Amino acid sequence: MKIVILTGAGVSAESGLGTFRDKGGVWTKYDLQEVATPEGFARDPAKVIDFYNMRRRNAAGAKPNAAHFALAKLQAEYAHEIALITQNVDSLHEAAGSEAIHMHGAHGQARCTSCDARWTAPLVMSLDDACPTCSETTTRPDVVWFGEVPLYLPEIAIHLRTADLFVAIGTSGTVYPAAGFVAEASQSGAKCLEINLEPSNVAGQFDEVILGPATETVPAWVERVLAGD
Ligand code: APR
Repeated sequence: MKIVILTGAGVSAESGLGTFRDKGGVWTKYDLQEVATPEGFARDPAKVIDFYNMRRRNAAGAKPNAAHFALAKLQAEYAHEIALITQNVDSLHEAAGSEAIHMHGAHGQARCTSCDARWTAPLVMSLDDACPTCSETTTRPDVVWFGEVPLYLPEIAIHLRTADLFVAIGTSGTVYPAAGFVAEASQSGAKCLEINLEPSNVAGQFDEVILGPATETVPAWVERVLAGD
């Protein structure tokens, strides 16, 4: 039974990284049009670089939690295929030992808009940073902004078409295309499970919803899967 998992900010919430849309979330404090769109970057690149420097610094001090570790255990021990897709730009899945498909990029990576080279971002990026490949100073955080096309969509589409079970964890179901994955997987015949603190905007499209903090619900679910329940 192939399992395809989509994670969102809720999986990292208990590691101390704020979500986007909950009370006190990132988009209640910052205008996403200013800091997370290509237009915002064109208007005020320094502001955008500073925003991601702040997010990178916060994430650098964060540790993976029991949900990340449980998903890594599942990837290591499950007898069949697991695809882990994340909307998160932190690296907590990797820190826990998982391999994840980062559809919204990673703020630990920088990218050159001239030659498309990618490299590990310094903790503090600067507009003067030169691309290590072409030397242009056209660098940006390697994250997908609103209005840009997420990464790895063809690969993800294949995973969704071939999933037997689709599980969304800690995501509000607000941002497409990820919010539409449940519909795609369901149309392909997958059973769909949502694990979230509260019902997401698309909770009605899942066959089953488990509510609670990810550090409790995810390890419990993983143990059930590994026990063959
Ligand atoms: N355990 C489980 N779920 C949680 C927890 C927790 N401890 N804390 C919060 N949640 C849930 C919330 O109930 C909410 O449904 O996580 C979800 C977080 O939703 P968002 O803040 O909207 O984050 P996400 O869905 O990942 O956002 C999608 O939006 O801004 C963009 O690119 C950004 O990747 C992000 C995308």
